Amino acid sequence: MTSYRGNPDAVRALVQDDRVHRDLYINQEVFELEQEHFFANTWNYAGHESQIPKSGDYITNEIAGRPLIITRHTDGSVRVMMNRCAHKGSRLVSSPCGNTGKFFRCPYHAWTFKTDGSLLSIPLKNGYEGTQLHECESAKGLVTVKNVRSHRGFIFVKINDVGPSFEEYFGDSLSSIDNMADRSPEGELEIAGGCLRFIHQCNWKMFVENLNDTMHPMVAHESSAGTAKTMWAGKPADEPKPMAIEQFVPFMSDYKFFEDMGVRTYDNGHSFTGVHFSIHSKYKAIPEYDNAMKARYGEERTAEILSMARHNTVYYPNLTIKGAIQSIRVVKPIAADKCLVESWTFRLKGAPPELLQRTAMYNRLINSPFSVVGHDDLQAYRGIQAGLHASGNEWVSLHRNYDPAEKQGGEITTVGTNELPMRNQYRSWARYMTETM
Ligand code: FES
Ligand SMILES: [Fe+2]
Repeated sequence: MTSYRGNPDAVRALVQDDRVHRDLYINQEVFELEQEHFFANTWNYAGHESQIPKSGDYITNEIAGRPLIITRHTDGSVRVMMNRCAHKGSRLVSSPCGNTGKFFRCPYHAWTFKTDGSLLSIPLKNGYEGTQLHECESAKGLVTVKNVRSHRGFIFVKINDVGPSFEEYFGDSLSSIDNMADRSPEGELEIAGGCLRFIHQCNWKMFVENLNDTMHPMVAHESSAGTAKTMWAGKPADEPKPMAIEQFVPFMSDYKFFEDMGVRTYDNGHSFTGVHFSIHSKYKAIPEYDNAMKARYGEERTAEILSMARHNTVYYPNLTIKGAIQSIRVVKPIAADKCLVESWTFRLKGAPPELLQRTAMYNRLINSPFSVVGHDDLQAYRGIQAGLHASGNEWVSLHRNYDPAEKQGGEITTVGTNELPMRNQYRSWARYMTETM
């Protein structure tokens, strides 16, 4: 068996121009190296500002295997710190979210830290007189993450200092987040409702690849979306379409539909499907919403915003968004063969409640652990996770529409059924994985 630790050449060899090695998905050592290097060297989504509106509010998260606190400091800024006490390393907070007031207090020996991470107080401080404490890391307080950026409320972090800036890393792909926020008559989003958590027995990359895999819906979703399509077949054209039918049926569109919708890729693994239209394009208009948008943006700009109905945008590696339906999915790797997918719904500030209802219904029908569509995908991922242990072929084919010129990178728009988004992801994976090895 190949050993990958300390062997960047062997890691690079896992990614070829048009295919990737199965160890990307099934090898536990590769998984551990990803946590140490790949996720620490890339910009990852950590949460949304609407989750921490007030000073002292916090959420916890884990990125690149590092436990993090994301908090609102007293000056209104977002701060990100390691969830690790400066004394003996205890986790400072255990809840997924809360308000800590003016400071964090360690539950073990009560060292306290301000919301910017600086050390505030130590019980019986005179016990440290004459010691070297003030010269070591522990006296500096919590370790802070320096690379933190917020875009339209979406908070991203990069653990390591290597690699591109936030702007260089995401470039024009940020237009999908912009469109999602612009769909609010107030130009702002807020997370609404709970989070749906769905454990997947597969490697995290299968989920991310699948978001821009347009060759699977008409096959893998035949039993679920196909049933909805059959149920609705033959209904008169003027019969009001239930929201569930409106959301299910487009999954059964033909190859030409998905080919024509187009895909666009960007440097660093980002991409979106639905350049020209998508499965979200034909949702019925909500007059009250349209009026609120026109009052804010005017007729022309409103039409421009609402006509952009991108299917899935992948912010590589851990965030995928659907601007047209205001939901996001965040992937959290757990092991080589296990990950957690979190689905969040957003309220468009200033929009009527039907918009949130549509979002919530979509999330339940398509993305949640109780959905029928999501299980089709999970079944496929589990099948791959098992199938890759077969012998005789250690490679996963990504040859579809391969063009050697694509290796130069930059922004590329092509047919929606091209496997370019996956090849683009793995070129980026090899780069950021080996950057610090
Ligand atoms: S471990 Fe936090 S105060 Fe001791
Ligand atoms: Fe799917």
